[in-house]
Amino acid sequence: MKNVLVTGSNGFIGKNLIEALNRKEDVCVKCFDREDTTDTLVGLIKDADFIYHIAGANRPKKIEEFEAVNVDLTQKIVDILATYNKKAPIVYTSSIQAGKDNPYGKSKKRGEDILIKYSVENNVPIYIYRLLNVFGKWAKPNYNSVVATFCYNIARNIEIEISDPKTELELIYIDDLVEEFLKAIEREGKYSENYFFKIDTTFKITLKRLAEVIYEFKNIKGTQIVPDMYDRFTRCLYATYLSCVDKDELHYELDTKSDNRGQLTEIIKSRHFGQIFISKSNKGVIRGNHYHNTKIEKFCVIEGKAVIRLRNIFSNDSEKINYYVSGDKIKIVDIPPGYTHSIENLSDGELIVLFWADEIFNPCEPDTYFKEV
Ligand SMILES: NC(=O)c1ccc[n+]([C@@H]2O[C@H](COP(=O)([O-])OP(=O)(O)OC[C@H]3O[C@@H](n4cnc5c(N)ncnc54)[C@H](OP(=O)(O)O)[C@@H]3O)[C@@H](O)[C@H]2O)c1
Repeated sequence: MKNVLVTGSNGFIGKNLIEALNRKEDVCVKCFDREDTTDTLVGLIKDADFIYHIAGANRPKKIEEFEAVNVDLTQKIVDILATYNKKAPIVYTSSIQAGKDNPYGKSKKRGEDILIKYSVENNVPIYIYRLLNVFGKWAKPNYNSVVATFCYNIARNIEIEISDPKTELELIYIDDLVEEFLKAIEREGKYSENYFFKIDTTFKITLKRLAEVIYEFKNIKGTQIVPDMYDRFTRCLYATYLSCVDKDELHYELDTKSDNRGQLTEIIKSRHFGQIFISKSNKGVIRGNHYHNTKIEKFCVIEGKAVIRLRNIFSNDSEKINYYVSGDKIKIVDIPPGYTHSIENLSDGELIVLFWADEIFNPCEPDTYFKEV
């Protein structure tokens, strides 16, 4: 069992890292954050086999905080290690600002220098990551993450400020960072003069596009149209957006069309995979008796019993195909183009069917032609 200390454990990166470490069986995670004392830190370092030094001042109220946290706390950790003759490898979250002529950049560079000295003197590896902007769940809004700020504010109808829409961001997703950090603990722990490490996967987007994408997420409640989730960046952004939505806003009603046959509700739509919709049909109801030229569909009975009838529009009645389906044994019936089809509720009660169509229903071009099966 490895004792792993995480400083900055209540912060955005710290929380995500700790959750991942807790899922590992051979790791015992120890946390250190702002409210803990130096005595606590000493006790934790004495036991630590590995340290993630994540605590940092990013946007402090007082400028002196940069020095007090990014430099002094780093020095304190190294001093405690020396006092107890401990040689724990350290992962350090520096920044691309390191070395730049601003208080944050200067303090991060000094933190790096302290750790490199510790590494050389003690023959122990350190892993410094000069991070770009990181985004993902549990980042604080209106603080150091523009993604969190946009997601949080757009979700709450708060106007966002875009200084220069053309500004391009290069971002790291939190899961990629955590995955890389977990690799560090699994390395052999040999000293190397290679102190600097990188997260290889990054995503680029302009501020304007970022705002547009997040507004699209917000509008899903009204349109049901989800963006292309094949694009991983979009998936990561949508996950981040949903993590920022107020817990009372995580539900929404759908527009249900009702008539004497029952109900029909479109659930989710995509320009890439079409749409999923659900129908409820009253006893004895027959839906369909139409065919499509190109549109294809899949029918899946969830509850009740039904017969799905299919007929190639060029064939006669004797070539009709009957599929008897029931919610007891979930199966799909494919509806090819050029086959007129219907579904009849054979149950004593309601029939519930889930459908997939390969395009979003367009009332102006429905690709639907009446023909009795
Ligand atoms: N997120 C990014 O995009 C990004 C990019 C480049 C570098 N980094 C670096 O990565 C680290 C983590 O960033 P983050 O986004 O997770 O920031 P964060 O959410 O602010 O987390 C930092 C944590 O460290 C704590 N902390 C501050 N001073 C401390 C002290 N003296 N003793 C103990 N804990 C202290 C903070 O507590 P309080 O909340 O009370 O201050 C907070 O819980 C920072 O060092 C940051 O500079 C982050």
